[in-house]
Amino acid sequence: MLEAHRTPDRPVASAGVRTQVAIIGAGPAGLVLGALLQARGIDAVVLEARSREYVERRVRAGVLEQGTVDLLTELGVAGRLHREGLVHEGIELRFGGAGHRIALAALTGGRTITIYGQQEVVKDLIAARLDAGLALRFGVEDVRVEGVEGDAPAVRWRDGGGEQRLDCDVVAGCDGFHGVCRHRLPAAAARVFEREWPFAWLGILAQAPPVSDELIYCLSEHGFALASARSPSISRLYLQVAPDTGVEAWPEERIWDELERRLGESPPRGRLLERGVTPMRSYVREPLRHGRLFLAGDAAHIVPPTGAKGLNLAVADVRVLAAALERWYANGDESGLDAYSDVCLRRVWGVQFFSSWMTRMLHPAADGDPFALRLQLAELGYVCSSQAAARSLAENYVGLPYET
Ligand code: APR
Ligand code: PHB
Repeated sequence: MLEAHRTPDRPVASAGVRTQVAIIGAGPAGLVLGALLQARGIDAVVLEARSREYVERRVRAGVLEQGTVDLLTELGVAGRLHREGLVHEGIELRFGGAGHRIALAALTGGRTITIYGQQEVVKDLIAARLDAGLALRFGVEDVRVEGVEGDAPAVRWRDGGGEQRLDCDVVAGCDGFHGVCRHRLPAAAARVFEREWPFAWLGILAQAPPVSDELIYCLSEHGFALASARSPSISRLYLQVAPDTGVEAWPEERIWDELERRLGESPPRGRLLERGVTPMRSYVREPLRHGRLFLAGDAAHIVPPTGAKGLNLAVADVRVLAAALERWYANGDESGLDAYSDVCLRRVWGVQFFSSWMTRMLHPAADGDPFALRLQLAELGYVCSSQAAARSLAENYVGLPYET
């Protein structure tokens, strides 16, 4: 039986040498967990390797499921999201030179998605946490997680003040794919499931109006393209490229010309604000728990971006973790913590399935295999002509219900 530490009398804002939950990483997983624990009166310290400026500027995806928006709203951090986010009731699948709308809201009883950049979510959560006086340390170096096999874990790191140590009850490993936490699971007890996709995405952010009012997922014989948005004057666009591509191979003119060729229309052009290449990877590390260490978000799993699920899945994990911790602190009930990994993995694999399906259906093979391309066109044709198939895509895209 794990001995739960009761909520201390001191205010939740404390950032001393002891806390209840040490959260490693201030991405969406770590920051949403911090906010969920704050709402439950559970003390936490968030430790982030990068600077505040860096994490607030890091451009990532930007599609929020209805459930993610609802959660951020409940947490009181969605004021700007509701003012500036773009609510979409459908997406377009473009193939064979024609567009086909998937009516997300009509097919799912009114559920929608909201376009709002991940770094905007991160900015809002950081501001809310710091305004509430809660502990969030940037620029921590050489983070080490200790003692999670027993009941007195600690996190050590270095910063401007030298060597630091934080004692805690539980460590939440929210430090993404390049963090240290996932490596704390003993190799003998862990199973890794991995797939490298034979392409990458070149993404740009441009000072230009979006191509369309709704997202366009486009399969062309020249490759996949995606036209998204950030605001009425900022567009976000992606091109399927070879996995070893560097951005230098893609001067501005070439990017716009290729987008035009694949989309079959001229996207409004504008100054590039950002460009980068992201490899496409599917990854799951099971289980998500090792003693008092709980992994969440990209630290435990990666999905290819075609289903727009990375951030939403990270949020789904920490929902489960926060509820489990609440029960444990309230009455020592460990059942939620024991079930954490299995509950999360059911959703993780559901989302792996959806993201792989979208990825396979929309990216032509690099060798241009004509048989495979015909099958992709047939599948897309089916999805757009069968209400059952369209609903299947729509209910996954807006987010399947959470397990209770
Ligand atoms: N110590 C402290 N912080 C660390 C360390 C470390 N050793 N290593 C990494 N970090 C920080 C990173 O700088 C980053 O801010 O952990 C954070 C992890 O955040 P994300 O990578 O955004 O991961 P997560 O919060 O799980 O969110 C998943 O992010 O990668 C996207 O597409 C993905 O949208 C998805 C979402
Ligand atoms: C984005 O807007 O960045 C975006 C949209 C849809 C995706 C991936 C990324 O599938």
